[in-house]
Amino acid sequence: MGVLEDKARARLFYKYLSKAYDTINPFIWNEEMRDEALTWFDIDDGDRVLDVGCGTGFATEGLLEHTDDVWGLDQSAHQLAKAYAKFGKRGTVNFHRGDAERLPFDDNSFDAYWSSGSIEYWPNPVDALAEARRVTKPGGTVLVVGPDYPNSTLFQKLADAIMLFYDEDEADRMFAAAGFETFEHRIQQRAPGTPRAITTIAEVPDEK
Ligand SMILES: C[S@@+](CC[C@H](N)C(=O)[O-])C[C@H]1O[C@@H](n2cnc3c(N)ncnc32)[C@H](O)[C@@H]1O
Repeated sequence: MGVLEDKARARLFYKYLSKAYDTINPFIWNEEMRDEALTWFDIDDGDRVLDVGCGTGFATEGLLEHTDDVWGLDQSAHQLAKAYAKFGKRGTVNFHRGDAERLPFDDNSFDAYWSSGSIEYWPNPVDALAEARRVTKPGGTVLVVGPDYPNSTLFQKLADAIMLFYDEDEADRMFAAAGFETFEHRIQQRAPGTPRAITTIAEVPDEK
């Protein structure tokens, strides 16, 4: 398990990274990639959408272009402070501080679930994906963006030491273990040589 797959360490990491997050993030995960992923996210205007690991609100901003009922959750008070500065603490977005692995919401609370760039910090990703399935209505979409596993052995060693990087086989295993039956994966990359993102688009089954 990587050094940042620990909730307290990830919080400490984001206490400092939050200051520069919006400057650094576009080198890895930019607006073009986010907007393409949004085209794979099957939501209608008025749908209630949960953004888990919303951070400073980068994806939240994109989600608001599709629906005005967006809820954001993050475990870092420092990241959330940046999001409040953009959207207000009690404004258009319904923000919560909490843990992806224990969502403070009732079953079937949301029409769809989005999480970009957060799964790599979750110590128990299958538990968090099961939570995604629980809080999202049957037939709803769960979309999760994470870091694709590097090809070179050197980068694999480095990646494994830091956080969760995973390939399509591992994504298949995690989503199946969390109770999903229908899902597909897509790969994105900002530019050749930059880190790839793996996005899984899953449908919440009728039988929970
Ligand atoms: C790379 S940022 C992604 C921010 C945003 N979703 C985006 O697309 O730019 C990862 C975020 O996940 C949050 N996070 C990490 N582990 C978490 C957990 N267990 N529960 C909730 N949020 C978590 C971090 O605090 C951080 O804000």
